Amino acid sequence: MKGSRFPHARIAVTTLTLALSKGRIFEETLPLLAAAGIVPVEDPESSRKLIIGTNRPGVSVVIVRASDVPTYVQYGAADVGVAGKDVLLEHGSEGLYQPLDLEIGKCRMAVATRRGYDWAGTVQRGARIRVATKYVRTAREHFAAKGMHVDLIKLYGSMELAPLAGLADVIVDLVSTGNTLKANDLVAVEDIMPISSRLIVNPAALKLKRAEVQPLLEAIARAVEGRRKAVQ
Ligand code: PRP
Repeated sequence: MKGSRFPHARIAVTTLTLALSKGRIFEETLPLLAAAGIVPVEDPESSRKLIIGTNRPGVSVVIVRASDVPTYVQYGAADVGVAGKDVLLEHGSEGLYQPLDLEIGKCRMAVATRRGYDWAGTVQRGARIRVATKYVRTAREHFAAKGMHVDLIKLYGSMELAPLAGLADVIVDLVSTGNTLKANDLVAVEDIMPISSRLIVNPAALKLKRAEVQPLLEAIARAVEGRRKAVQ
């Protein structure tokens, strides 16, 4: 830089990138970001842009698929992200700091079958079953812990169709209102775990961008705490 015509070129402008997915996570994260003084300037539902600016210079939001959020944060392409526990369990938590349960996107991971399917009998007999799911890792661990032998079939969506079409005996999927199961004549026969969305942070960003990241984490933590107290 010696003799540079641009003496200020060495001064790095710290930027902060947040990775969010469209839909429920984005909507429910907005008030938490607002509590930290961050307001996106566009709505990803109406904009085709994948990088959205905010009211804060240097702070932007990248819109990615829910299952890609941990990847962006792990590699440092985003500093902070919001990801469901379901996604984090499948991705693995290596290279991710998870400081906070945001208590949004709440639902449960469950085993579901066709109505009338003899689940209790199947478990009792120790029969080998076919399980269709997007959550292969979580399902494998769940059935292994029960000592059940399963063949796992990876799907990327519309899991509810699998038992109806004869692809699988059961599914492992997220259940929120239960409407999708009901509409397809399926029933939840076993709860695996409660699910909610977590804040995830790139560990290097936490160190190198502490001045930006730490106040963000603290403001979001206060907002989550405040909301919890308000509903109690
Ligand atoms: C999720 C899940 C179920 C549905 C459950 O799918 O996979 O299909 O929501 O919600 P409910 O109990 O309120 O009916 P989502 O709509 O997120 O799409 P996906 O199939 O792409 O995961």
